[in-house]
Amino acid sequence: MWKKAWQFACREEDIPEAGDYLVYDVADLSLIVVRTEGGDIKAYHNACLHRGTRLCDDSGHANQLRCPFHGFTWSLDGALTDVPCRWDFPHVRAEEFGLPEAQTGLWAGFVFVNPDPGAESLETYLGDLDKHFAPFALQDRFKAIHVAKVIDCNWKVGMEAFLESYHVIATHPQLLEYLGDSNTQYDVYSRADGLPGFNRMITPQATSSPHLEPLEPQDVLDAMFRDFYPDGWAPSRSPRAPRRARSSPRPCARTWPRPPARTCRGPATRRSWTPSNISSSRTWCRGPASGRR
Ligand code: FES
Ligand SMILES: [Fe+2]
Repeated sequence: MWKKAWQFACREEDIPEAGDYLVYDVADLSLIVVRTEGGDIKAYHNACLHRGTRLCDDSGHANQLRCPFHGFTWSLDGALTDVPCRWDFPHVRAEEFGLPEAQTGLWAGFVFVNPDPGAESLETYLGDLDKHFAPFALQDRFKAIHVAKVIDCNWKVGMEAFLESYHVIATHPQLLEYLGDSNTQYDVYSRADGLPGFNRMITPQATSSPHLEPLEPQDVLDAMFRDFYPDGWAPSRSPRAPRRARSSPRPCARTWPRPPARTCRGPATRRSWTPSNISSSRTWCRGPASGRR
């Protein structure tokens, strides 16, 4: 699948200067995503054309891509520029030894790659995604911190845990005091050609779950602060925190899991989801088009 799918490799600001590069590894694929002298971003397969040695690791800056084994060297544009003992390689024609590339595409500051040279354009692949992300102006934002964790599981299992709120009541019911689970909204969008496109998930936060009797706003905030600031909250750590919120954690007064007070009331109306009373978390997922898996 990864050989045919558009996938997010890094942010543009990860490689701001010509020669900045980053290695994107997925499954058994490895790509060097590099900013060229002209300012473009290219992605090369991270394997030397001589004996297949890995050309780069991690991230860094280089004015050329030189193989650490025997020294075959390529420019940032992927052209072969040096072969040690050149006389011994009469069959190596520079015009045939450019570094093989994957496709690259940019969207809102995100760098996407697709190893499939015949793949549809990123623009076609993303479809109407622009429209949904417009309020967030992601192109004007930057990555302030990068946190990563390796999870020892099939990647689909890890991913799926973040694609639904159905598991909340059983897996971490302490969230019910300030998270809409059974009233999470899921929308599935099709592409212009009718194939499956992407889906959207809107999870209301700072509102109690329909599984509970409605809580007072202060109780909702207290529960959030209890979980978000287990060591206590101080104004210097959260200058925008509501004035009435308590400055010390309040132990959870209930024993979890607690049985639902009554059956689900059904989805909340959109009218109740306003910026004044909730924040919301949204997740968009975009998989490969059907038939390309
Ligand atoms: S393997 Fe790269 S130069 Fe020989
Ligand atoms: Fe979860």
